[in-house]
Amino acid sequence: MKYINIRGSENPVSVIGIGTMRIAGMNPSEVDTFVHTALDNGINFFDHADIYGGGKSEEVFGDLLEKQSELRDKMFIQSKCGIRNGYFDFSKEHILNSVDGILKRLRTDHIDSLLLHRPDALMEPEEVEEAFSQLYKSGKVRYFGVSNHNPFQVELLKSKVTADLWSNQLQMSIVHTPLIDAGLNVDMEDDPAIMRDGGTLEYCRRKDMVVQVWSPLQIGYFGGVFLGHPDYSELNDMLNALADEYHVSADTIAYAWILRYPGKMLVNTGTTKPDRIVSAAKAADITLTRKQWYDLYKAAGNRLP
Ligand SMILES: NC(=O)c1ccc[n+]([C@@H]2O[C@H](COP(=O)([O-])OP(=O)(O)OC[C@H]3O[C@@H](n4cnc5c(N)ncnc54)[C@H](OP(=O)(O)O)[C@@H]3O)[C@@H](O)[C@H]2O)c1
Repeated sequence: MKYINIRGSENPVSVIGIGTMRIAGMNPSEVDTFVHTALDNGINFFDHADIYGGGKSEEVFGDLLEKQSELRDKMFIQSKCGIRNGYFDFSKEHILNSVDGILKRLRTDHIDSLLLHRPDALMEPEEVEEAFSQLYKSGKVRYFGVSNHNPFQVELLKSKVTADLWSNQLQMSIVHTPLIDAGLNVDMEDDPAIMRDGGTLEYCRRKDMVVQVWSPLQIGYFGGVFLGHPDYSELNDMLNALADEYHVSADTIAYAWILRYPGKMLVNTGTTKPDRIVSAAKAADITLTRKQWYDLYKAAGNRLP
């Protein structure tokens, strides 16, 4: 496993993270195996959100932490807030209430990181600052970051927020590459040249923010997994060939493709299967060549200018 040092922290985080969005239906024994498989394979990063399973994902995870409290210090636990039923809410009151709910469900007195889940157009940076300061001073949250934010939204927050915003969680996979396409097609006339996010990847690199990737295997917005998908036969052929070459499985190569981007990359896998957690962990040990990276990008249906 490889780890990333967060500014100001003595505890590095693994470049593979465990997404918990799909664990709400797990029984205690399944959660136990799920968590221990991650830890045994060097993964210490666990990504939650208050809305996953309507709070149930945090609850089943918290049930385990209550029984095995010694696990807490081995983990970097993150959660997210700001998405409500049909709208977004970064108000001070909602952020503070959300964290209290998160801590209660997770059965812990603090989380290591809190992310603002999706931009709230009505956000007031001063209110976010008040909430974050209060949460930091009370010891309930150690680090703060954002998710699905563009550079100007981060800058707007930073105009008042004094905490270091350590990370931006964003969607990316070999078949979902708007973050990359525009940078490869500057000043061209066709669709890939459209800059939708304001250079978010480059901004995160410049500001030393960790890019956490979500849905690393999905087609579009929860369109299913591209592994084995008939619409992506050229990509799958190449993934399988590289998997043979590196003596791993195709999913490992798909994760390694994301980690090859030279920012501070962290991939949150959404698998619920222990053997697939092991495959994900192996990606940290693979560095694809530049040519392999571009060949996979093209095999996914992209072209270069
Ligand atoms: N910030 C945000 O807005 C946001 C949005 C969405 C998600 N997230 C975070 O990102 C995490 C990952 O998202 P995700 O669950 O959509 O990611 P994902 O890993 O791309 O998708 C997970 C799905 O892929 C399946 N899968 C995994 N490996 C597979 C393989 N080798 N072959 C076939 N199917 C496979 C899983 O099934 P099995 O369980 O059967 O393996 C599961 O149904 C979430 O848990 C959450 O923490 C954040």
